[in-house]
Amino acid sequence: MCGIVGYIGEKNSIPILIEGLKRLEYRGYDSAGIGIISNDKKETRVIKSLGKVSKLEEKVEHLVIDNSSIGIAHTRWATHGEPSEANAHPHFNKDESLYLVHNGIIENYTEIKAKLTKDGFEFVSQTDTEVLVHLIDSFLAKGSSLLKSVQLALSEVRGTYGLCAISKTEPDKIIVARKGSPLVVGIGDGEHFVASDVNALIGHTSRCVYIEDGEIVEVTKDKFTVSSIDNEEILKEVHEISVELDEISKGDYPHYMLKEIYEQVNSVHDSFRGRILMDEGTAKLDGIDRIAERIANSKRLVLSACGTSWHAGLVAEYMLEQFTGIPVEVDYASEFRYRNPIVTKEDSMFFISQSGETADTLAAMKEAKRRDALMLGICNVVGSSIARESEAGVYVHAGPEIGVASTKAFTSQLVVFALISVLIGRKRHLSLIDGQEILRELESLPKKIEQILKLNNQIEAIAEKFVNAKNFLYLGRGYNFPVALEGALKMKEISYIHAEGYPAAEMKHGPIALIDENMPVIVIAPKDSVYEKVITNIEEVKARKGVIIAIASENDNEIDNLVDYSIKIPDTIRMLMPILTVIPLQLLAYHVAVKKGLNVDQPRNLAKSVTVE
Ligand code: G6P
Repeated sequence: MCGIVGYIGEKNSIPILIEGLKRLEYRGYDSAGIGIISNDKKETRVIKSLGKVSKLEEKVEHLVIDNSSIGIAHTRWATHGEPSEANAHPHFNKDESLYLVHNGIIENYTEIKAKLTKDGFEFVSQTDTEVLVHLIDSFLAKGSSLLKSVQLALSEVRGTYGLCAISKTEPDKIIVARKGSPLVVGIGDGEHFVASDVNALIGHTSRCVYIEDGEIVEVTKDKFTVSSIDNEEILKEVHEISVELDEISKGDYPHYMLKEIYEQVNSVHDSFRGRILMDEGTAKLDGIDRIAERIANSKRLVLSACGTSWHAGLVAEYMLEQFTGIPVEVDYASEFRYRNPIVTKEDSMFFISQSGETADTLAAMKEAKRRDALMLGICNVVGSSIARESEAGVYVHAGPEIGVASTKAFTSQLVVFALISVLIGRKRHLSLIDGQEILRELESLPKKIEQILKLNNQIEAIAEKFVNAKNFLYLGRGYNFPVALEGALKMKEISYIHAEGYPAAEMKHGPIALIDENMPVIVIAPKDSVYEKVITNIEEVKARKGVIIAIASENDNEIDNLVDYSIKIPDTIRMLMPILTVIPLQLLAYHVAVKKGLNVDQPRNLAKSVTVE
């Protein structure tokens, strides 16, 4: 979603800001802008553009300004007001001496706007953000410093923000503030960076501090001072950024999504590497080892997440119930707090999030906190808000995921839940032999993924046949039902074809009415304990002339007599099968979207990290 970059130092800020915005493009946005102050402090400039950062870059190239070594920039994903140049950030005051970029939502903006309009402030956009600029400006006009004016303005607003402000009147600083929207300050030598995502800092510095809710930072080129909203100074821990530049570049792949699908050979391995204790048939997860006993004694395990991470939670439900014997509930994070969820201190809650920044998941966490449940984070992004808000947790170690449609984070989340199932299971009833079998099968997955990736050409050829499909139906049973949901989500997200996932047996209670010769039906049918039943469902589709694409076991020759296309993959134990069955579905969605000429990495309307509720 919206992205923020800021720079203060001695270098020319413009290329640093543009490069930073490009690194944040993957988050999803519809317009971009940059605001700078010239080195002689005489001029300010704002440049905005609808569409891609490359368009902004073209405009910026024609900018005539004495070098600028302070600036802020933004990519906007519209919430209040349509995507337009006027609504793009930075927003500014009347004489353009004050610039502001903002992520989040100011909930009481209409009342503040009414008051400011009465006081003579003129508004040029339809955004909630613009009220903040004029509010800050109103305090500057009364003689307050920039820092104090931001503090005073924030004490009047309700809502969420991650913001940066610069002013010609104090041109040697950036004021940064956070409540509910992530921000990080990168520490350089005689320079500082600000960003909403560490990806914008990589290559510039490997040292950073994460800004917490309620903190305001005054950043100059040589130092930064963090204080609370009541002006108490706060000492911050400096973190190391471990991500390297090549991890966030596309390399030789045409799209990040394809790169990330192929990376699963390694990312799945990285997720269990160093975490297997084969002799004891258990897992070693440093982040939760000290409270594993408490998790094992929980009355209930509650999993909460959004999107693909929610699908990982659904697979985890099958795993955890089968191997720990503890009742499991999976909740959409966005729904969790709109019920009166029955969660107590005897429950353990897992919050699953690739980005660790999803606003709905964070909000669910806050609700759970009030109810004293044990809060555990299962995140990919190190240092993210959910990871920091959790009492304990496990990083999934999938590496940076840039493609908006999540792929490798999903399979890594499943690996982590397999490890948690073994760890907690072994503290309850899981035998040494059964624990060891799961771990051995986990270790065999990377080779099997490599084998599945060799089917890329076959899957591309199948995709070719369905480029003009209007609908897809995905069916799966047991562990593979959530995979049907995930396959359908991938297709919808990037190819814009309507797709539905269903438990195979439920088909006859509704979706069967949709089946005719124009309906491709993807059936996940590995040779497991529900195979015979899935074959019955295939027959039902066939009887109504549906076109069937099966994801089947490599040794299953009979299925070819029943289906139109079969994609044969290696087998593993039932609980790990989703890690394999999902990969052909990722590739299928990818190839359909590419053949339709769509922007696979940045599909329309979607954002990688949804930081508004
Ligand atoms: C967005 C992304 C999805 C992702 C979901 C949850 O909708 O487009 O790919 O699954 O958010 O994100 P999270 O970072 O919490 O896993």
